[in-house]
Amino acid sequence: MSKRSWSMIKFNSPTALLAAVVSFSNANAQTADPAIGRQLAETVCSACHQVGPVPTPQPANSKAPSFVDISRMPSTSELAIKVFLRSSHPTMPNIILDQQETDSIAAYILSLAKH
Ligand code: HEC
Repeated sequence: MSKRSWSMIKFNSPTALLAAVVSFSNANAQTADPAIGRQLAETVCSACHQVGPVPTPQPANSKAPSFVDISRMPSTSELAIKVFLRSSHPTMPNIILDQQETDSIAAYILSLAKH
């Protein structure tokens, strides 16, 4: 009897660990953090876009709208940014972002509209 319950415990603990890992990574994928979005934007997007909250007179690429301008466009929404970042962008190299990165950049761009 006691031998049997020990084997149940041994069987159960890796399962519990796996469940914990799965729920942790699910929770993580849903987190949109504008601070992470800003860091990503400064690394990946600033070659062409002005990504900061205060536009500077000289745009990095005159064809790329600043993120402040994007945030103020009537067509801009969280969904529009996410769709845009997933579809191909003719003048942009193929930038591969995972879902959390896309969500974070969208959250960051939307946060600029308040400035
Ligand atoms: C190689 C230069 C380049 C890079 C790098 C770049 N962009 Fe762009 N982006 C452009 C240009 C040019 C446009 C305007 C023309 C167009 O829509 O293709 C644009 C347009 C956009 C628009 C669309 C605005 C609208 O009209 O709806 C969004 C949103 C955007 N970029 C986001 C990003 C994000 C986020 C990144 C970083 C992950 C990024 N871009 C990196 C050049 C770039």
